[in-house]
Amino acid sequence: QRGGSLSARHVLVTAGPTHEPIDPVRYIANRSSGKQGFAIAAALAERGARVTLVAGPVTLPTPPGVTRVDVTTAREMAAACWAALPADCAVMVAAVADWHVAPAEQKLKKGAGAPALDLRPNPDILAELAARADRPRLLIGFAAETEQVVAQAEAKRARKGVDWIVANDVSGDVMGGDSNTVHLVRADGTEQWERLAKVEVARRLADRIAAVLA
Ligand code: C5P
Repeated sequence: QRGGSLSARHVLVTAGPTHEPIDPVRYIANRSSGKQGFAIAAALAERGARVTLVAGPVTLPTPPGVTRVDVTTAREMAAACWAALPADCAVMVAAVADWHVAPAEQKLKKGAGAPALDLRPNPDILAELAARADRPRLLIGFAAETEQVVAQAEAKRARKGVDWIVANDVSGDVMGGDSNTVHLVRADGTEQWERLAKVEVARRLADRIAAVLA
């Protein structure tokens, strides 16, 4: 076992995409595979943490020792997160849809012109968590960016009121792949990490978390 033990600590992890229904057969989704979030949940459980993994629609196996709550939409993900509190730490890895659609009750038909999607904002789970009275002591967000990755993540860390942001360079083949390029943005500076297997990113992040919470 690497780093300190996280036994007696509860960590909330979100992972995967959300699906936002348009009608009974269609939805809006994104390319998140859930691999990085599931690897983080696994690494935290290996260090002895009690882990609640709120997972969007993915088919990955549940890591050993992890309590998994499956959800579909962003609003369901938010409700599952609130139900999992209190937590000592939250690692919000999910690629949450920014909007949902007021869904049609019947399948939309072609013929009458293209339907307009009535997009409405989803809750920003991470920002709401940061503002709650029962905010976890260590709150960690992800920032998937394709350009100016660290600069945007530093701005996001302050704006969202979180402790750390994992700046995630998703240019190239990161989404769905087994390796990742991330940098750990904290108030006192940024750690540049080389390209690593997602499992190794998870272990390093768990080490950093254990150094704070153990
Ligand atoms: O603002 P942006 O979507 O880039 O922020 C990404 C971070 O916020 C990630 O940690 C993601 O899990 C979280 N997030 C969230 N709820 C949303 C949007 C993003 O928790 N509706």
